[in-house]
Amino acid sequence: MKNPFSFGVAVTGESFCNRVKEMHDLKKAVESSRKLFIFGERRLGKTSLLKKLISSLDTEEFIPVYIDIWKCVSEDDFISACTNAFAAAYETKADKLLNFISEFFGSIRPTISVDSDGKPVLVFGAVLKNARSAVMEDVLSIPAKMASIHPEKQVVVIFDEFPQIRSFESDKAERVLRSVIQHHEDVSYIFCGSKKHIIRDMFINKSSPLYRSAAHYPIDYISIEHWLPFIEKNFHNSGKSISKECIEKIVSETGGHPFYTQMLCSVCFEITDQKMDDISQIDEALEILFQRESHAFNNEWEGFSMNEKKLMIAISREKSVVSPYGADFIERNGLPTSSTLQRIMKKLLENDVIDQDGQGKYYIADKFFSLWILKKM
Ligand SMILES: Nc1ncnc2c1ncn2[C@@H]1O[C@H](COP(=O)(O)OP(=O)(O)OP(=O)(O)O)[C@@H](O)[C@H]1O
Ligand SMILES: [Mg+2]
Repeated sequence: MKNPFSFGVAVTGESFCNRVKEMHDLKKAVESSRKLFIFGERRLGKTSLLKKLISSLDTEEFIPVYIDIWKCVSEDDFISACTNAFAAAYETKADKLLNFISEFFGSIRPTISVDSDGKPVLVFGAVLKNARSAVMEDVLSIPAKMASIHPEKQVVVIFDEFPQIRSFESDKAERVLRSVIQHHEDVSYIFCGSKKHIIRDMFINKSSPLYRSAAHYPIDYISIEHWLPFIEKNFHNSGKSISKECIEKIVSETGGHPFYTQMLCSVCFEITDQKMDDISQIDEALEILFQRESHAFNNEWEGFSMNEKKLMIAISREKSVVSPYGADFIERNGLPTSSTLQRIMKKLLENDVIDQDGQGKYYIADKFFSLWILKKM
């Protein structure tokens, strides 16, 4: 029997749980050309949600553009990713690429080449050396031109893994984006990413080019009331069953985190013959999950310094900490002096390893990593 639970890639169809409110909010936002920063923890389902949003948009009414900039390590990569995403959204037929070029580019034009899969792609090549800024402005102005050519359609531009833009050689891309989107009243923009620290800086830091140019929309976990029918149905459709108590235990362990919930459900499905109705089996499944994730967690762990590890162990032990610089906490956990600790905290917060809740308490962002740290100790 095929395991109905999937994790690791963006999910669709039967593998997609809830997000009804988010879909409603995002649909409304794009219909009214709004600009949004979407952020949430790693593997929370942001890409899945954005892809579902795109597939829900009628192409008679919308021109959706999805640009994943994860693989872009330079401004040139970014220009190329945007150009090709705009071209793919506008002209679905390869032989129309020439039209696209003449419609949207002036004297500096890309040429048509083929990628390693034999697919046609637009490339700028050596042109970029002397005219990078001008090309970037031309390319990022394409959505507004699309909107004016097709006033009957709504153009929606989605940048996934947007914080990656901060790893480019300069902040030119962010600055050009700011200047173009100010004039793109008819285009909706979504900037998405999990690096909460960077996204937050983008919209609250006055010196950030995109300061206040978009509203923010945080994505949260999925709650038990939505997981219950979803998990029950997926077991049932694959010829097995699971009790309500077991589902409640699964979701209480994962907190409703989509990736870990799918992963734990997948293991539960695997170890169940017919019916899962004994909650002690969830502990068995958790053990298997930790064993499987151990390699990835170990790699991550080895990247931290001794003092960082000590602090992470201390926070994991106490689950959440109000005052990490208090003498009590430092002494109890054998931590370095307050000034060193402040430096470490800053780095871990900036890297989104540690996060802060609404009441100001610090915790390890990845709950399962935190549990693994405790197990390891
Ligand atoms: N709506 C959903 N219903 C069920 N499972 C989901 C849902 N969204 C995400 N998941 C689970 O979480 C995993 C990660 O999803 P996705 O890649 O969309 O997250 P992400 O937030 O974009 O991750 P990253 O931070 O790595 O970019 C999926 O493989 C799936 O197991
Ligand atoms: Mg993603």
